[in-house]
Amino acid sequence: MNSAVFTDDPFVAKIDSYLKSHLSPMRYEHSLSTADTSSALAAMFGYDQKRAFFTGLVHDIAREYSKEELVEWAAKDGRPVRELDLASPVLLHGRAGAMVLKEKFGIQDQDLLDALSSHTTGNAGMKTLAKILFVADYIEPKRKHITPEFISSLEGLDLDGKVYAVLMGTLNHLADKGKSVAPEALELKQELEHAE
Ligand SMILES: [Fe+2]
Ligand SMILES: [Fe+2]
Repeated sequence: MNSAVFTDDPFVAKIDSYLKSHLSPMRYEHSLSTADTSSALAAMFGYDQKRAFFTGLVHDIAREYSKEELVEWAAKDGRPVRELDLASPVLLHGRAGAMVLKEKFGIQDQDLLDALSSHTTGNAGMKTLAKILFVADYIEPKRKHITPEFISSLEGLDLDGKVYAVLMGTLNHLADKGKSVAPEALELKQELEHAE
């Protein structure tokens, strides 16, 4: 997918300019790279590439909002903002981003909104688009923490296998740093371990 061609669409161009003015250049580049990687994964798994590209492009739309804005926007989805969210408000940027897309830009695509909501921690019941974004966000080539060995370990895995590998990468990283794990991430782990 060529991002320059894709942003010829006036609606996408409008969101693209919002992203450029609300994200640092580095995070904007990460968003574009996540879009390209999402599109490539979509091609691999027979999913709509344009939809995957767009989801990757917008996934961090609220990533640089203030803590107050994150809490305010996330709460609009009707789910509780918990103590653990308030302790790390940055984890709310997925939920907040989904609500920004819905309310500021009129996006109604529930799978896309769910993909944004779940991209920070993962959760059980993720659909294909959410899984594509979850993997793409972690492995896009501008990420510095990803080794060639990790990328080659994903080769040949189905989408759930890739999600599991990415999730375990994140959980191991959190364990190394002594950080706590969101319950949603553990629910995803359990779901994948018990899948047929
Ligand atoms: Fe993010
Ligand atoms: Fe991201």
